[in-house]
Amino acid sequence: MRVVMIGASGHVGTYLVPRLVAAGHEVVAVSRGRHAPYQAHSAWAKVEQRTIDRAAAEAAGTFGAQVRDLRPDAVIDMICFTLESARHLVEALRGTVQHFLHCGTIWVHGPSAVVPTTEAQPRAPFGDYGIQKAAIETYLLDAARRGQFPATVLHPGHIVGPGWAPLNPAGHFNPAVFTQLAAGAELVLPNLGLETVHHVHADDVAQAFERALDHWGAAVGESFHVVSPAALTLRGYAEAMAAWFAQPAQVSFLPWPAWRTTVTEAEANATWDHIAHSPNCSIAKAERLLQYRPRYSSLQAVYEAVQWLIADGQVRLPQR
Ligand SMILES: NC(=O)c1ccc[n+]([C@@H]2O[C@H](COP(=O)([O-])OP(=O)(O)OC[C@H]3O[C@@H](n4cnc5c(N)ncnc54)[C@H](OP(=O)(O)O)[C@@H]3O)[C@@H](O)[C@H]2O)c1
Repeated sequence: MRVVMIGASGHVGTYLVPRLVAAGHEVVAVSRGRHAPYQAHSAWAKVEQRTIDRAAAEAAGTFGAQVRDLRPDAVIDMICFTLESARHLVEALRGTVQHFLHCGTIWVHGPSAVVPTTEAQPRAPFGDYGIQKAAIETYLLDAARRGQFPATVLHPGHIVGPGWAPLNPAGHFNPAVFTQLAAGAELVLPNLGLETVHHVHADDVAQAFERALDHWGAAVGESFHVVSPAALTLRGYAEAMAAWFAQPAQVSFLPWPAWRTTVTEAEANATWDHIAHSPNCSIAKAERLLQYRPRYSSLQAVYEAVQWLIADGQVRLPQR
């Protein structure tokens, strides 16, 4: 198949593009050409690279036509964040593609209620990002189920891999938290540390997209969580990381209003966003219908990312 991937050089594209090439697909990689994949791979030499700025092309009203002119059999859209943007593309591609795969987010769910959360649970998103992604999901699945557009929606959790900082055990992105745990220093967590985060390795997200293409009949008109087999509590995550650094876990707790004053405003906002969702999602549907088999647990994915942070000098190990 000729597969056009919009936003192909990011976390997921780094793994998905080589997978698609290895599977024999003809791949067209769309981006602004500013960002190189996180890892080099010989597969990129076989990829047709197209430089398009989606924001500029959408403003000019030409983006959909430009994608259609690439003659895709399938389109993988990694960077759609508004309903308007989704509509524009769908209207241009309707009747021309065999499969359209949209990258959503588990934040289409608001706060977790009955866990693990399934795809069937009613959506109650909060925050503009989750609200827009939920609106896109509703729009795409409605069109697919009416037989008007062959869409599938994949919802990743927190994407992790070597090359960028993973969501840390305090629920934000400052790699200094790993340095603290490596030193055996105290880490203060909000509340009781029992709120959850749900990571996924970028290659497992790539696997899910590949399997969704392979299982067209099961995938069209459906959405799927794409996360690791199990979420982590902040406390469990902190303790596991301390153990990985061969240190005793020195974890203490403060109620949210006090805790938030111990970190920067940006860190507090990131942590709030994560603990207010406290995702814990089921992958049973993707396992059953797509044969999704994640290779990484949350901790295995994070270990790989932290090894990279250490090699990159962003996490320091104590001198022994
Ligand atoms: N990160 C997470 O933890 C997370 C969690 C859940 C869901 N998601 C979803 O994952 C998707 C993002 O995937 P990702 O993390 O693999 O992407 P990413 O690492 O953010 O990479 C974005 C890609 O899009 C390209 N790009 C950015 N702006 C562009 C524009 N205006 N026009 C054309 N290309 C553009 C970038 O290349 P250039 O810069 O060269 O253009 C790059 O190839 C989003 O839909 C997001 O909602 C992410």
